[in-house]
Amino acid sequence: MSLEDRSNALHLLKDHDTARESAAQSRAANALSIRAAKPADFASIVALDQQVTGLAKRQYWKEAFARYVSRREEPAFFLVAERGGEIEGFIIGDVRAWEFGEPPCGWVFAVQVRPQKRLGGLGTQLFDAICDAFRRAGVKKVRTLLARENHLVLSFFRSQGLMAGPFIELEATIA
Ligand SMILES: CC(C)(COP(=O)(O)OP(=O)(O)OC[C@H]1O[C@@H](n2cnc3c(N)ncnc32)[C@H](O)[C@@H]1OP(=O)(O)O)[C@@H](O)C(=O)NCCC(=O)NCCS
Repeated sequence: MSLEDRSNALHLLKDHDTARESAAQSRAANALSIRAAKPADFASIVALDQQVTGLAKRQYWKEAFARYVSRREEPAFFLVAERGGEIEGFIIGDVRAWEFGEPPCGWVFAVQVRPQKRLGGLGTQLFDAICDAFRRAGVKKVRTLLARENHLVLSFFRSQGLMAGPFIELEATIA
């Protein structure tokens, strides 16, 4: 092999390594990570919630962040799904003592996935992650509450194996 051929071959190898490195970097940047929410996620969560519910609830989220992110009241879990620096969804829940002599259970009180990212299994990954956290906290059941007419969220929770539980909610107007 001539000197020139050898140098060309070396260049090719280098280019190949650089391409492989940048492909690995872009794969890492596009990988989904499910992690605990951080104070810096505040604006993204408010914006995502506004996109999903149509309401800007800064005060509600301020209190939720103070409780579940800054103070990390235990055992409560505020998890976000992040890809490429963007929050694609979140789930929040805690472990609650239950009435009627029931042992404490995991309670999911919010789950949202960015509309453009739905039906790709992200909600399921968030739910699995919070159930893992509940299991580590020592509980054996997960529960949630939702509006009867919210068929989307009902289908989602049914798909995760949740069914009507042993209690019913009763209410009356007293004003
Ligand atoms: C409910 C929600 C979290 C699901 O997220 P997602 O990433 O799309 O969920 P997944 O892709 O993991 O779907 C899991 C299962 O849920 C059910 N499901 C999800 N979206 C559904 C839809 N549009 N219609 C019917 N079933 C649906 C399906 O059974 C699905 O399984 P499949 O894809 O094998 O059929 C998402 O739709 C969402 O954020 N909705 C708005 C939630 C909301 O209003 N929150 C405000 C109160 S907290």
